[in-house]
Formats: sequence, C-alpha cells, structure tokens
Amino acid sequence: MIWSYFVLLALGLLAGADEAVYAPGSGALASGWENWSWSSTIDFASTSGPASVEAISVTAGSYAALSLYDETAFANNFAGLRFDISGDQPDVSLSFSSSTDSDSSASIPLSAMSSSVTSTSWTTITVDFGNLPGNGGVLPADSWDRINFQAGGSGATFYVTNIVLLTEIIVTPEFLSADPLAGNIIAVTSQGAVDFSQISAKLNNATVTLKKDATYSPPDTPALTITYFTMSKPLAPGSLVITAGDNTTFSHTIPALKYGTINIGNVKNISSDIYGVNFPTDANYIELLGVTISRWGGNAVTAYNPFGQFTNAGNDWYFENRIADPPDADAWMGWVSGAQSKSLLTVPALDWVSKDSTSYSYPKTVYPAQAAYDPYNSNAGNGQFTNGSWVPPLPQTNVYEPWNTSLAAQWLSGLTHKPDIVTVDNEIEIASNTHQDMHPDPMGYDEELQRVVDTATMAKSVLPNVQVAAPSTCAWWFYWTSSIGYTDNAAHNNQDFLPWFLTQMQAASTKAGKRLLDYLDIHYYYAADTSANDAAAKALRLRMTKSLWDPTYIDESYIGTSVPAQWSQPNPNAVWLIPRMQQLIAQHYPGTKLSISEWSSTADTDITGGLVTVDQLGIYGREGVDSATYWGTVDEKGPIGLAFWLFRGNGTYFGSKSVQVNMANRDEDVLGVYASTTDGKKPTLVIVNKDVVPVNLAISNIPAGTYFMRHFGGAAGVAKWQTMVTISANSNLVVPAYAAVFLQQQ
Ligand SMILES: *[C@@H]1O[C@H](CO)[C@@H](O)[C@H](O)[C@H]1NC(C)=O
Ligand SMILES: *[C@@H]1O[C@H](CO)[C@@H](O)[C@H](O)[C@H]1NC(C)=O
Ligand SMILES: *[C@@H]1O[C@H](CO)[C@@H](O)[C@H](O)[C@H]1NC(C)=O
Ligand SMILES: *[C@@H]1O[C@H](CO)[C@@H](O)[C@H](O)[C@H]1NC(C)=O
Ligand SMILES: *[C@@H]1O[C@H](CO)[C@@H](O)[C@H](O)[C@H]1NC(C)=O
Ligand SMILES: *[C@@H]1O[C@H](CO)[C@@H](O)[C@H](O)[C@H]1NC(C)=O
Ligand SMILES: *[C@@H]1O[C@H](CO)[C@@H](O)[C@H](O)[C@H]1NC(C)=O
Repeated sequence: MIWSYFVLLALGLLAGADEAVYAPGSGALASGWENWSWSSTIDFASTSGPASVEAISVTAGSYAALSLYDETAFANNFAGLRFDISGDQPDVSLSFSSSTDSDSSASIPLSAMSSSVTSTSWTTITVDFGNLPGNGGVLPADSWDRINFQAGGSGATFYVTNIVLLTEIIVTPEFLSADPLAGNIIAVTSQGAVDFSQISAKLNNATVTLKKDATYSPPDTPALTITYFTMSKPLAPGSLVITAGDNTTFSHTIPALKYGTINIGNVKNISSDIYGVNFPTDANYIELLGVTISRWGGNAVTAYNPFGQFTNAGNDWYFENRIADPPDADAWMGWVSGAQSKSLLTVPALDWVSKDSTSYSYPKTVYPAQAAYDPYNSNAGNGQFTNGSWVPPLPQTNVYEPWNTSLAAQWLSGLTHKPDIVTVDNEIEIASNTHQDMHPDPMGYDEELQRVVDTATMAKSVLPNVQVAAPSTCAWWFYWTSSIGYTDNAAHNNQDFLPWFLTQMQAASTKAGKRLLDYLDIHYYYAADTSANDAAAKALRLRMTKSLWDPTYIDESYIGTSVPAQWSQPNPNAVWLIPRMQQLIAQHYPGTKLSISEWSSTADTDITGGLVTVDQLGIYGREGVDSATYWGTVDEKGPIGLAFWLFRGNGTYFGSKSVQVNMANRDEDVLGVYASTTDGKKPTLVIVNKDVVPVNLAISNIPAGTYFMRHFGGAAGVAKWQTMVTISANSNLVVPAYAAVFLQQQ
C-alpha cells in the first residue's frame, strides 16, 4: 500500500500537476504569468461577468488580443487547456505562440469550440492538444510560452476565467457517427476504447450481418478513428438504422437510385497543372497534398524588391514596407521545384519597388487627419481623408525606389532557380486602388498592354524557356473594361478588354517573331454573396460552380441581372467561364492556354468550401483548364486541403485523362461525378455529394474489383479517411450528405 502510494506520487511528480493560469479570487494572473496583451482594455479583477464570478474582462480592438505569457514555457508539458468564457459568441480565436522562436500555432476560432457562448452564463471549453478543435490535429512540439485570445477584424468583448493547463484529458469512449458508404460499407467513427461487438444494423427492418474490416487513424489526426464494416447485403433504397451500444442509433434514408454511365473509351487530357496553390508552406505540404504548381503572387508582390527582399503591403495594410514573406524568391523556387512542383513567379511591372523594410507611405506626422491608422503602428495611415479622397502629395520616394525592365532582367538572369512561368505583376488593372501610392492614375488598355509586352519581351529574352501568363485580371468586371471605364472601351473600337488584349498580344508576338503570351491568366472569385453562410447561402455556394461551365446558369449575383451597354459579350448574364475564355482564345489568339492563378471556394474553414473545391478541381479537369492555383495558402488539414488531398494526396493521383460521364439527370446543383483513367483501362472516380441527404448512384461500366477509397465529410467530418473496398459488378455507390469520395481501381 505504502509502496504503491509512493509509486503514484512519483508518477504524479513526473507527469506534473495541472497549472492554474488564472483563478477567480486573486484579481491577477497566477504567479509566473505576465500580461503581454496588446491594444485591449483589460481588467484582471472584473466581477461584471455572469454570477459575478471574478474574471478577466477583455475589450479588444481590431485583431487585438489578451495574451498571457508564461515565464517558464509550458511547451508540450500539458495535455490540454480548459477555460470558462462568456460573451455574445465573440469573434475570438485561440492560439499558442513562442516568444523564443516567434512560432505560432494555427488559430482555433471560438466557433470551432462552441457556437453557443452567451453573455448570460459561463461556457466551459476544454481544448485537447491531441485533438484540436476544428481540424483534429495535434499541437506541434515547440517552446510554447504564450496563450492568445485574439479578436477578429471587428474586435471582441468577452470575459474569461478559470484558465487551467491540464495534465490529462479524459476521453469518454463513444460512437460518434456511422455513415453508409460505397456499395456495402458502414463507416463508423469513434473515440476511446469502444466495444465494437455492440454494433448492429437493420436495412429496411431486416438485420444485416456486419463484418469488421480495417480500422484507420489518419497520421494528421491520430485521436480520430474510423472503422469500416462490410454489410452482408448491399446498401439499398429505404431505411438504414445502425445501433451502437445501448443508447446510440444512427438513422439514414438511402434514396432511390440515380443512373449514369462512364465511357472509358472517351477521354480528354487533364492538365496536371490545375492542382496548384499560392505559397505552399513547405516541401512536405507539396507532397502530402500533391501540389503540382506553386505561385508567388498576390497584392504583396507588386512592390517586391528582390535585391533587398523588401515589399509593401499596399492598400491591404496601410501601405507599409516590410521584409517579404517569404523573403527570397530564388530560394523559394529552389525548394518548390525540389519538391517536384512547378513555379509561377510574379515579376513586378509598375515603376517602383520597396526601398526598405520599415518605411510607410502615409505617416500621420506628415499627413495628418487620415481616416484610419494601423492599430499596431499609430503613425501609419491608410492614405485617405475621412471623405475617402486620397491625401496629397504622392509619397513615392519615401518608401520606394525606381523599378524597370532592366532591373527585372538583371534579377531574372541572376536567378539560380528559374521559374517555369512568369506573370506580369498582379491585378495591375486596379493598381490605382491597391497601390495608389505608386500608381495613382487609373490604368487603361494601352498602358496595361505596353507593360505586359515589355515585361514578356524582357522575360523571354533572359529566360528563353519561360512561359508568360498575363494579364492576371482580378475579376469579371475588369475582364471587359479598365479602371478608366467605358470611355476606354469606346476608344478601342468598343472592344471588351480581354478579347482586345488577346488580339494585341497576337500582333505583338507576330512582330516579335515569337509568342509573348503563353497563358491567358485570370483570377476568378465567385460574385454571388454567400457570406451569410446559412443553409440557403451554403446551397448557393455549392451550386454556383455551374458558373464555371454552364451556359444556362444565370449568375446569382449582379452579373445575372445587369449588363453595361458598353460591353459586347454574348450570353452576358451567364459567366460560363471556361468555355467563354476558350472561345475568346480560339477567336483572338489561338493556341494560348488558360490559367486561373487565383480562385477560392468562398469558405476555407467550412465543409461546403471543401466540397466546392472538390467540384471545381473536377470541373477544371473535365473542361480543360491548363493551369490553376488556389488563393491563398490552404490549411493542409482543413476542408480545402482535404479537397486537394482527395485528388492528389500523398502520391496517389486522380487519372491524367478525363473520362466521359453521362448522368440521366446531371443534377449538378447538388452532385458532381468525375471519372478519369491513366492507363485507359482502370478508372478513378471522384464523387462529391453537395446535397444535405445521401446520394445513391447506379453508374454502369465501373469494373468490379478492389478499389482504394479516400473520403472526407459527412458525419465522419473533416479528416483524411482511407481504406480498400471491393466493388462488385453493377454495384451502386452511396455517398453520405456533404461528403466527397475518391475511388481508384487497383
Ligand atoms: C495588460 O496589457 C494591456 C495591453 O498592453 C494593457 O492595456 C493593460 O493595462 C494591461 N493590464 C494590466 C493589469 O497590466
Ligand atoms: C419497419 O418497421 C416499422 C415498425 O415496425 C414499420 O412501421 C415499417 O413499415 C417497416 N418498414 C418496412 C420497409 O418494412
Ligand atoms: C443508456 O441510458 C441509460 C438511461 O439513461 C443509462 O442508465 C445507461 O448507462 C446508458 N448506457 C450507456 C452505454 O451509455
Ligand atoms: C494528351 O497527353 C498525351 C501524353 O502527355 C500527349 O502525348 C498527347 O499529345 C495529348 N493529347 C492532346 C490532344 O493534347
Ligand atoms: C476630402 O477632404 C479633404 C480634406 O478635408 C479635402 O481637401 C478634399 O477636397 C475632400 N474631397 C472631397 C471629394 O470632398
Ligand atoms: C532602370 O533603372 C535603373 C536604376 O534607377 C537605371 O540605372 C536604368 O537606367 C533604368 N533603365 C531604363 C531602361 O530605364
Ligand atoms: C504517406 O505515404 C507514406 C508511404 O506510403 C506513408 O508511410 C505515410 O504515413 C503517408 N503519410 C500520410 C500523412 O498519410
């Protein structure tokens, strides 16, 4: 007895005890903790919260934070964090950071921990460092010494108390979900040591036998487990009830079959360059998501000075110079191509680049009475009066030094690692807004063309193998006009901008004796408003992928209702993006490829954003887009990362040829079915169910055999699930609500 007590005590000492960070009654942080907050009004002894429990009250401005610093870094010595919070579902995110190496963990939005935080009571939140809310990941090893509760852009008001670092998280064994999948599978997720002998299922009231197959815990989310059961009968329309233990049942209605067929003899090449992202984080990321092309781009590269590795944020952040992030484009292309990704490099093409890492264009001391100042630097203004006018005079030489094609040539020719593709600046047509301090006058057709021709000519002379992509136009509106407006259309024979641009680039190429434009490059952001993110907005988000291809889909945005008389596009209320661009290319500069170097799902952290991304990658392949890079850095473990992983994860790829799919009812508001092959015999399928109920497909010509299956979504949630399944001849395929599946014949 005494001995075991001693052992437990010793274990207790080894494991350490829970550590209070803040406890009510003391009016202060626990000893060893310091207040490292910023831009916030904070009271460490407030009793104004629910039930007058003493708490830290926080009123945080835009992106400001309650930040608690541990003098002896807590690092990875704890299993989790618990706290009580109160407020009207404040827009606040939790993160951990290290003051020694400046690392920061991913931010966990409060909404991923609880969606029912109120100002009238306390909500207790426990964060498991081995199963982080939102993505199920693990808090990486690091010298963590700060806990941050950071507000979003509109600030946040909240109370927090009883903050404790925990040595142990107790996981209650529990069945979390049981989804029907593929032809005869039930996929069961669980936590802790559940008893699988308790699982049984009834299909249309008849008991079916379940055979337990593989159990899998994804390396990214080791606390999550899925177990696949094979049913003794195939899934069929009707009711499916899975009972897991005494009190847990999962009920599904399997709908009637939807019929279709694949025609593996009818194929079209898929460009592998459609699976790109902007700024991948590292080589491992490229490998695990199967990224094929990486872009160095965005508003913050327009002012990139490669000789000092500085840049300027422009209108995105108070026109402030900074060290570029990442700093060295040459080194970046080195590791990107070392990881087998192509590189797409933006070459600045205005007349200035950043001269240092510290200056900013509009200091309050020089330009008083500006409308807004950087919350982290009260002297850096936004360059505008409160009435929206820009403050004169121009500050260019305060922050910039001259730039031209000779300097660009010097840079490109000196690179150790050459880009595969260069783009001519970024959204240059709106420079008078995004980079007003550099280029205050609205850019017109002629100036834009001249800058593209000059940069392309320079790039092709110093890098003979490089491909040029331009004009990287920001959005639909500017595909057809310039920042000058309709008078500019009128001055160019009433031609819309992009067709005019293609014609001119063909003429310039003929004159130069070589092709100066290899890719027509555009950015595409959906114009419909899905920001409400309610059921209707989600359904809209999921069906608006039809704007990429469907000539009958009237865009559910301003595009669908209003067309300026000065434009001359056919079928102008439908975006019909890819075929429209391909047709313009065929008419105005045949042989040019199509690139979409920025696009986005509109919801990076929502499952529907992941489903849109799956759908869109499928559509890019089917419709023949030549290159595409998602904006911006995709969270590898979030819904968008999972969409890339579905097509290309960890060395297993969707096929290189798109196989024709014929559905009796295409139903593409709620369903995407994409088929491919590499060897002309074995198919790979991706099915995305965008509906809130399961789908049950009968697709003929899918060969019987063993298939590698990956999936995410449904009740199984956001994790990289995978297994092997057997598909029998004429098997139907069930995909749960809001889920995506990849099936590759072995
Ligand atoms: C904590 O830090 C914030 C931000 O610097 C400051 O406003 C506040 O007064 C500090 N509170 C205490 C009690 O030190
Ligand atoms: C299943 O059983 C329930 C209740 O026993 C009954 O109402 C229902 O009609 C049955 N369904 C089928 C498909 O047999
Ligand atoms: C099921 O619910 C009953 C009554 O609420 C409870 O007594 C029992 O422990 C529960 N069983 C399980 C396995 O949770
Ligand atoms: C399709 O890809 C193959 C292999 O890369 C190539 O040989 C063929 O020319 C391509 N076909 C077309 C129509 O581009
Ligand atoms: C905006 O305010 C500034 C400063 O008061 C003034 O100089 C400018 O004329 C105003 N602009 C407009 C359009 O009213
Ligand atoms: C480009 O800028 C550099 C540095 O200001 C200057 O020396 C050079 O003459 C310029 N080249 C051209 C072609 O304007
Ligand atoms: C990637 O594949 C390798 C080799 O098959 C495997 O060892 C590794 O665990 C996989 N990684 C992930 C994150 O799935």
